[in-house]
Amino acid sequence: METSTDVKRLREAFRAAGQEQVFRFWDGLNAEERAQLAAEAAEVDLDEVAHLVKTLVLKTPVAMDDFSGLAPAPVIALPEHGGNEAEWAEAKLAGEEALRAGKVAAFTVAGGQGTRLGFAGPKGLYPATPVKEKSLFQVFAEKLRSAERRYGCRLPWLIMTSHLNHEETEAFFRKNRYFGLDAEQVRFFRQGRMPAVDFEGRILLAGRASIALSPDGHGGSLRALKVSGSLDWLESLGIEVISYFQVDNPLVQCIDPEFIGFHLRSGSEMSSKMIPKAYPDEKVGNFCLHHGKLVVIEYSDLPKALEQRTEPDGSLSFRAGSIAIHLLSTRFVRSIGGGKPGLVLPFHRANKKVETVDDAGKPLVPADPNGIKFELFVFDALPFAQNPIVVETAREREFSPIKNKEGVDSAESSRRDQVRLFARWLRLAGVDVRSDAAGEPTLQIEVSPLFATSESEFLERWQGLETKPAVTDPFYLE
Ligand code: UTP
Repeated sequence: METSTDVKRLREAFRAAGQEQVFRFWDGLNAEERAQLAAEAAEVDLDEVAHLVKTLVLKTPVAMDDFSGLAPAPVIALPEHGGNEAEWAEAKLAGEEALRAGKVAAFTVAGGQGTRLGFAGPKGLYPATPVKEKSLFQVFAEKLRSAERRYGCRLPWLIMTSHLNHEETEAFFRKNRYFGLDAEQVRFFRQGRMPAVDFEGRILLAGRASIALSPDGHGGSLRALKVSGSLDWLESLGIEVISYFQVDNPLVQCIDPEFIGFHLRSGSEMSSKMIPKAYPDEKVGNFCLHHGKLVVIEYSDLPKALEQRTEPDGSLSFRAGSIAIHLLSTRFVRSIGGGKPGLVLPFHRANKKVETVDDAGKPLVPADPNGIKFELFVFDALPFAQNPIVVETAREREFSPIKNKEGVDSAESSRRDQVRLFARWLRLAGVDVRSDAAGEPTLQIEVSPLFATSESEFLERWQGLETKPAVTDPFYLE
């Protein structure tokens, strides 16, 4: 905030918008506090907040009220599930060609708060692998290095952070010398923030001199790509395809030539990976067609009857679960929020406990939800995309996220899934892997992405080893 006139104008705008409570401690703030509050206030788009209050706060939003036009989304099935093997082979060639031509970049969204995991630090620093306890970021970096080696290309890597974890994330990469990548090929940018409001739509303060701002959801990545200049950067490098993945899944194939090939060959602007759901109410989004448009319906929004519906062969009708792996064309991202008419992602409302202050400015830690946060979801871009496709992948090869402290989708379950996958590769290579009566490996195994990132690559490299290493416990292969 430059001058006192600017601040005056800002305060006037907040007053006119019925949000003057944001400045209610102003007179008692020192110069530094005033500067902070004014800077945060300037970040708030008051028209956007007014619209959200009208549509999501003062009335109960309905996620979708017309389920009549809902059908399961078509899926490109894996060859082992009836997919066309020749098409998969052609897709692979097309993807490899795009990679060799340097048209692909990787993009990790890492701006979440990871409250469920409760790890003190950005989630990407979490020790995820079973033997070496490599961080999630190291795993992705090694997967990218491995793809670069294979395709003789350079893969730019974008990492979206939040205001809360940006510095720590960058410092971690610096300290670890970018895990062998060039510093110039990794670009960090902060995602946008949204203010939380109370149930009457008044913007909440986090302190006397600060607004309760929080990350605007993974869908915020699409506008942040533009605002941060990252999209310009990708375009200047000739990038056409952005490989989007979340920070929490160490099994993700960060760069997947087959997926890229299908995406390019179908002229898709946004493509997604699916896994068949393990059971009807598994907590993943559902790929559906809604009046012919590809959408993701959250598990909590899909009516029970549809969730449970089965096909004559007994399989689930709505079986395509979203695992938050997408490909986006740079052109499509460019068209969001301008260019393509109507292409503005909708915000979602979440009731949350928001730490705030009372009228005396004293900290108030609520026991129950006292406010509303607004978030954007990346999959809401799908209905705007031309020729979007959904491609099947195998859960055991690609999806085991670290979300919770324990139980389902925890570090423990993810490490176990990693060991299972590596054990499978070793067994296919003819190695006897010690296991219990249920076939669970009873030793810790880890294969570095620098050795192999897929079954076929593993077998090829293993066969090429002159002396095969003895499989000890723990066993690590690089
Ligand atoms: P989650 O939905 O798992 O949320 O994010 P979270 O904030 O990480 O974790 P909880 O719910 O607080 O436990 C899925 C992915 O989207 C990213 C996360 O970093 C993760 O990779 N994300 C989420 C963002 O980048 N920004 C956000 O605002 C929200």
